[in-house]
Amino acid sequence: MSRDSTTRVLSVAFLLCLVCSILVSAAAVGLSDRQARNKVEEKRKNILQAAGLYRADRSIAEQYAQIEPRIVDLKTAWFSTDIDAATFDSRAAARDPQMSHQIQGNLDVAGIKNRSRYQDIYLVRDGESLKQIILPVYGKGLWSTMYGFISLASDLSTVNGFAFYEHGETPGLGGEIDNPNWKKQWQGKKIYDESGSMRIEVLKGVVDKKSPDAIYQADGLAGATLTARGVGNLLHYWMGEDGYRPFLEKLKEQGVKL
Ligand SMILES: Cc1cc2nc3c(=O)[nH]c(=O)nc-3n(C[C@H](O)[C@H](O)[C@H](O)COP(=O)(O)O)c2cc1C
Repeated sequence: MSRDSTTRVLSVAFLLCLVCSILVSAAAVGLSDRQARNKVEEKRKNILQAAGLYRADRSIAEQYAQIEPRIVDLKTAWFSTDIDAATFDSRAAARDPQMSHQIQGNLDVAGIKNRSRYQDIYLVRDGESLKQIILPVYGKGLWSTMYGFISLASDLSTVNGFAFYEHGETPGLGGEIDNPNWKKQWQGKKIYDESGSMRIEVLKGVVDKKSPDAIYQADGLAGATLTARGVGNLLHYWMGEDGYRPFLEKLKEQGVKL
């Protein structure tokens, strides 16, 4: 066979493809455990960040020890022990007809169509009392579904932290939801007023700090009103009657004891 024969060229190309595909497959299989571990670690870091507990100089495992993952059944509005919180995947559950809850059109302000009946939530305790509760929330922005965590203080209305860990909004526009200054403004905001009405809103402009309503308002995002509106909408869904509200009310009735 001559060096430049078609058969030889094709054989070399085939062997090269085979070797490369074996290498890529081996890397994918070999690294899958590490990828899964990194994903878990990243989620834990986001939970700690939402709770304002994350310190870069300490290991995530050590810090996460103060977090207690639990499952809440939004149908019974109470904790469930039927599912293991450590391995639960609420996105997969939202796609599972046995576990998903279809959101009625007029209630679907977050634009997500359905959600899991069960949600993994995260507690920070002070003995038998609740110090913080961290709740996963998500909803449509302009281009993407935005996934985040919101942490509430023990009054179950005051925000300790709110951050998104996954979205596809435009960097510099909707992507400013990741801006540390924008995130910081959420600390101390209240979701509900004294009478229990949902009051939280994201404005189109900047909050007037002198306004008595400022405690329920967050600044919008210049040039990204649609993303900012999505943030307000998803909070209204998840903090509302079809979301966590019945559970939060029950928790309050029980004196926020765990
Ligand atoms: C390429 C491109 C990307 C954009 N990305 C976003 C975005 O991520 N979020 C958003 O709300 N608006 C985005 N916009 C702007 C929206 O189309 C819309 O003009 C804006 O949300 C209105 O906000 P404003 O009233 O504050 O200007 C984008 C526009 C363009 C042209």
